[in-house]
Amino acid sequence: MDATQKIAILDFGSQYTKLIARRIREFSVYSEILANDTPASALADPSIKGIILSGGPQSVFDPDAPTVDPAVFSLGKPVLGICYGLQLITHLNGGKVESSPDREYGPAMLKLQALDHPLFAGLNHTEKVWMSHGDRVVHMPNGFKIAGASDNAPITAMVHESKPIVGIQFHPEVNHTEKGHQLLRNFVFDICNCQATWKMVDYVDASVQAIREQVGSDQVILGLSGGVDSAVAALLIHRAIGDQLTCVFVDHGMMRKDEMHQVVSTFQKGFGIKLLAVDASEQFLGKLAGVDDPEKKRKIIGHTFIEVFEAEAKKLPNARFLGQGTLYPDVIESALHKGPAQTIKSHHNVGGLPEKMNLKLLEPLRELFKDEVRQVGRLLGLPEHIVNRHPFPGPGLAVRILGAIDRESISILQEADDIFIEMLHSHDLYLHASQAFVVLLPVKTVGIMGDGRTYERVCALRAVTTSDFMTADWARLPYEFLAEVSARIVNEVKGINRVVFDITSKPPGTIEWE
Ligand code: XMP
Repeated sequence: MDATQKIAILDFGSQYTKLIARRIREFSVYSEILANDTPASALADPSIKGIILSGGPQSVFDPDAPTVDPAVFSLGKPVLGICYGLQLITHLNGGKVESSPDREYGPAMLKLQALDHPLFAGLNHTEKVWMSHGDRVVHMPNGFKIAGASDNAPITAMVHESKPIVGIQFHPEVNHTEKGHQLLRNFVFDICNCQATWKMVDYVDASVQAIREQVGSDQVILGLSGGVDSAVAALLIHRAIGDQLTCVFVDHGMMRKDEMHQVVSTFQKGFGIKLLAVDASEQFLGKLAGVDDPEKKRKIIGHTFIEVFEAEAKKLPNARFLGQGTLYPDVIESALHKGPAQTIKSHHNVGGLPEKMNLKLLEPLRELFKDEVRQVGRLLGLPEHIVNRHPFPGPGLAVRILGAIDRESISILQEADDIFIEMLHSHDLYLHASQAFVVLLPVKTVGIMGDGRTYERVCALRAVTTSDFMTADWARLPYEFLAEVSARIVNEVKGINRVVFDITSKPPGTIEWE
């Protein structure tokens, strides 16, 4: 990255490291995450205005504990140690860290004693902070003084008497630390003297450059899903290497109405991206015939997807990279092994394909959060309806047709879903929900239409609000709006004669029904 000034974050493995980088980007200052063992000679680069040592899960006493080149403390540059970073500053400079079997995890009250230090400008004598640590500092190295304490950690913050080296036990990057943003701002602007000049467009330029360097003259293959992440990854890679990128879109027959057509028209016609659009619906639906167990359905779709994708990839024997729209939250999720989340993602990332086909991964969005990916998408000219699109599961409508799947059910659901989504847009409610869709139930109920008795299926409207999709609440859509959606679905979609609205939060429910 050719930035005239930046903050280097040395990564000791904390789940929050990239959150620190994101916070600093929010201040319009570039920050770069570097390996913990980056030599001090590299950190001496004049563009690096300050160094942050991140948190990490290990103890400085572990035999394989990650460490830092001790010469960083003699560079004369500002250093901020967070959690493990504080302990490293202590351990490497002659202080004492005490190993403790009890982890302190959660909120704590910080009592500040060095309010005159620029790191704490704008903070109060007592501040609510977020802790997550086992070990703690018991003796500071020479030259440091206590800046703040909490009940469980007498040295919760320390500052060097004359050098710009500071350390804190709590995490300023998480929202639970109420003045955390202020503290990071103080470090970046008042201690490191950075200017707020960096913009997301600089990220795009830097990524384009990095992709060119990484890929060279090789070919890249990328699976487009119709969602925003793979779309932005494709556009970014396309901007970098043009026709060296080929996208593959697999239509498994369970996409939303007209989706195949929309993807082809946006990417192939609109952006001139090389696209192999495969209608594999026969193959998928053939294997799914009569299968009603949700897990079996997912497995069949997952395997078949890999088969189809692999067959397409073979048409590009010179491909050396697999492009993916992996975002930072996906990276954290995999790192933390959050149970079923792992399985969920496996549908997206085409399983063991990279190893099998000897492809290297190219993931230009790995450091970004969803809203940042949307910003990048806009900068690259992605149409707003794709930029803001709700997420759609890899197995598509298969998880929204309860019971066995056939073409008739798919087409009924596509029509009903299209009405709901179109009406959310036309009533300016689409962005009020984080995800909204229709579910088709394997239940028939009696109804009356005109003079006749009907016996048709029930569908459920699902709309949720959430920030992370791990928990969610049902969206409070206006009754009048729901009434209109219901009337239109029953009148216009042959095969549905009753509409219900799902008012279950997550937990205990999930967002999808299967
Ligand atoms: P749940 O239903 O677990 O969904 O509350 C959370 C989020 O994940 C999406 N989801 C999936 N995405 N493959 C995917 O790619 C799947 O099998 C899958 N299942 C759920 C869901 O749409 C929601 O956004």
